[in-house]
Amino acid sequence: MATEVVREAPAKVNLRLAVLAQETSGYHALESLFCALSLHDTVRVSRGGEEIELVTEGAIDTGPDHENLVVRAARRFLLEMGGVDGGVRIRLEKRIPSAAGLGGGSSDAAATLLALNDLFEAPFASEALLQMGSELGSDVPFFLCGSPLALGWGRGERLLALPPLPSRPVLVAHPGVAMPTGSAFQRLAELRGGAFRPPAVAIPSDALSDWDRLSPFAVNDFEPAADERLPQLATARQALREAGAGMALLAGSGASVFGVFHDAGARDAAEPAVQRLGFSTWRAHTLSGGTVG
Ligand code: C5P
Repeated sequence: MATEVVREAPAKVNLRLAVLAQETSGYHALESLFCALSLHDTVRVSRGGEEIELVTEGAIDTGPDHENLVVRAARRFLLEMGGVDGGVRIRLEKRIPSAAGLGGGSSDAAATLLALNDLFEAPFASEALLQMGSELGSDVPFFLCGSPLALGWGRGERLLALPPLPSRPVLVAHPGVAMPTGSAFQRLAELRGGAFRPPAVAIPSDALSDWDRLSPFAVNDFEPAADERLPQLATARQALREAGAGMALLAGSGASVFGVFHDAGARDAAEPAVQRLGFSTWRAHTLSGGTVG
């Protein structure tokens, strides 16, 4: 049996994020094109200690341990196993900014489920892990689905894994202000008024394998609500576009923005302009190979 299992937990951006109608549960149905990035956290799990011990490294605030999705994922996994002798130690190296729309917490949770499944020699099939993941958070199933590119519906638990797009350089920029998911949905619903009916959209299948064909469909419905609260988000996306980004969008419900570039030189040249607007930046690229999850 392995003594330690190490997994990378990548960030994601949504190349398309359409917020559809509000369901009777109060939640909104989504249509999302998830894309994993090279920017990642690292999760290490090993046996030992008592119950679940989490040590977090890095400058990112993850909140109290009991609220951390990693601990909730581990608790859920061990419960499904019917308990184990001794405890589990988890080391989380944080690099992905929290509450930024980059799926960091969800990715850490998915990596924890996958790492524990390896550590305990595969007690669960992928369907069972997906079920546990979907109950932990909306973005967790994507990070379990095994592809760095996937279309998602519902709350993100219905997925179609796609062949990855060719890797492209990405600049991620964060304004240093968190954007709580709940208030983003609430403001969007207010801006739309009561009876929102999603428009009909037909995305041709070849747009899902070609960055240039995809760009007309690259939208994020949260942008008007996010820009109203933080106008610098629109300015940063404009700066990314002016620097050559073929796509510049809000990440998830915010507050990060990102630009997808043709070449790394243009991406790197864009960085100072975005930093001058008060944003922290991360150079990354979209993942095009291997498996995520
Ligand atoms: O997923 P989470 O619980 O973090 O979402 C916070 C809030 O955002 C929810 O309570 C709900 O009001 C809103 N939400 C939504 N539709 C979704 C996801 C979240 O309306 N698909």
